[in-house]
Amino acid sequence: DWTMAAFRQEAVAAIRHQVGDGRVLGGLSGGVDSAVAAVLIHEAIGERLTCVFVDHGLLRQGEAEEVVRLFRDHYNIPLHHVEAEELFLNALESVDDPETKRKTIGRLFIETFEAEAKKIAEDGRGAPQFLAQGTLYPDVIESVSFSGGPSVTIKSHHNVGGLPERMNMRLVEPLRELFKDEVRALGRELGLPEAFVGRHPFPGPGLAIRCPGVVTREKLAILRKADAVYLDEIRKAGLYDEIWQAFAALLPVRSVGVMGDGRTYDYVIALRAVTSSDGMTADFYPFDMGFLGRAATRIINEVKGVNRVVYDVTSKPPGTIEWE
Ligand code: XMP
Repeated sequence: DWTMAAFRQEAVAAIRHQVGDGRVLGGLSGGVDSAVAAVLIHEAIGERLTCVFVDHGLLRQGEAEEVVRLFRDHYNIPLHHVEAEELFLNALESVDDPETKRKTIGRLFIETFEAEAKKIAEDGRGAPQFLAQGTLYPDVIESVSFSGGPSVTIKSHHNVGGLPERMNMRLVEPLRELFKDEVRALGRELGLPEAFVGRHPFPGPGLAIRCPGVVTREKLAILRKADAVYLDEIRKAGLYDEIWQAFAALLPVRSVGVMGDGRTYDYVIALRAVTSSDGMTADFYPFDMGFLGRAATRIINEVKGVNRVVYDVTSKPPGTIEWE
């Protein structure tokens, strides 16, 4: 009789066995997988886990603060919060190609993570020999089937795939046998807050790929606000858990509008929501028009710089979930 409580016990024992009296370095992304892996490893080896959270300045509203509050303050997990917004946004200043964005972000992420790991290795407690990763079973399968499959890369998703080899560390991957819904169940078992465990997946390159074209600080600020209003409406309508992913994208185009007795010339926000079981295929979510109207009105009223909202009714295929 397989239960999450039993899995938790076995996983903790396996981590202790693998790590011995060694030290583990964990990366936190703000997502569910890396968080569950970290809490589980912390339960197994306590203070011998140190986490690094590289904040690339492309997270959603309030997200970075939430990660720090949860891990450092609630769980007391040693956490290095690297605020690298300037570095990333400066490097993205003239980049508009989606794959170049991913490569730029992936490269800077690895460099930033390595630099922080070096500091941790020199903190007098001995260099960590292990690197924790929140790899899930579908990731394992995908990398196997892709290696022998056609050489068409639609998006280079595994942005930080080269990290373990480069750092010459052994991997600790306690979630390798689990599917996403099982990771969520394990997160609940470990006492992670429901709002955190139930979160929609969020891509490594963050808001950069929800801002087609060149990413600027101004666009990011607008996008964050619009996205927060949209998600607030989805939560209020009780629809969050029915949806695989929902987010706003800021289109690189301005349109003419009218506000009071004046003309406006502002950005267009595209709303996206899809159902899916694994992200490989997806259907657009059939909101009712009343919901879409409310979300659009709130976004235009509350977010300066936006005067038009559209809803994306493309499924995958032929679209992808993200816009880039
Ligand atoms: P697409 O847009 O390819 O997305 O339909 C499928 C799933 O993958 C996520 N995604 C990414 N995740 N790095 C990531 O870590 C990426 O570069 C990336 N691109 C897309 C996307 O959010 C969806 O869940």
